Amino acid sequence: AKTAVIIPAAGSGKRMGGGIPKQYGNLGGMSILARTVKAFADLNEIHQISIVTNEDYLERCRLELKNLGLMSKVREILTGGQERQDSIYRAIQRLPEDVDLVLVHDGVRPFVTGEVIRRTIEAAKLHGAAVAAVPVKDTIKMAEENLLTKTLDRRSLYSVQTPQGFRKDLLVHAYDEAYRKNYYGTDDAVLVEKVGEKVHIVKGDYNNIKITTMEDIVFGEAILGGWIENSRS
Ligand code: CTP
Ligand code: MG
Repeated sequence: AKTAVIIPAAGSGKRMGGGIPKQYGNLGGMSILARTVKAFADLNEIHQISIVTNEDYLERCRLELKNLGLMSKVREILTGGQERQDSIYRAIQRLPEDVDLVLVHDGVRPFVTGEVIRRTIEAAKLHGAAVAAVPVKDTIKMAEENLLTKTLDRRSLYSVQTPQGFRKDLLVHAYDEAYRKNYYGTDDAVLVEKVGEKVHIVKGDYNNIKITTMEDIVFGEAILGGWIENSRS
């Protein structure tokens, strides 16, 4: 029984802008994607890695990972699809028989720690589905046309991150159903929720940010520089 991770990295980074997709941007001497791959490659609990990326970057990806000595667990590097979900589905459909647990982790969350990954694996093994999440710090309100309609109870609100971990049969079923009924979700857990399965929360990390806009690069440099300690929560 093996644990695989699928790393979607086929987006174009519209909100970041710039000449190259953000996952290939440099962060402290290696690409954001390579740093993300390293977090998983370094763990004994992870047996294989599937990366999904932009067609024009397949070779660049492979070369960088090879040069960094990070290719040994990489099973394949695939071309992505239109949406994040499409990219991940391509990898899901090609998982080998001997994999029974699957993590999905954004290629642009390079600060994920071994602890968060291990917690997600343990909970997914136990419960079938688990996501890393942190309590929201802001007060979240709903609004329509600039008028507040509702203040949500912060104690029941979480920012959901990746990794998200699932028993393979459950994840395959959830994705197959999404395509059969033609719906898209913003993460993997929502597809599993839609087939009526419970998804557990494990403690994520406030530093496990998704690099989305320019400010996140600055924040990322500060994390790398040791200016922001890990796991404040
Ligand atoms: N992703 C993907 N395939 C897509 C779209 C996104 O594999 N068709 C990946 C991204 O590369 C990223 C992760 O999904 O690693 C999270 O997506 P996001 O942060 O939204 O990245 P982008 O879609 O590239 O950015 P934007 O939405 O600003 O264009
Ligand atoms: Mg996107």
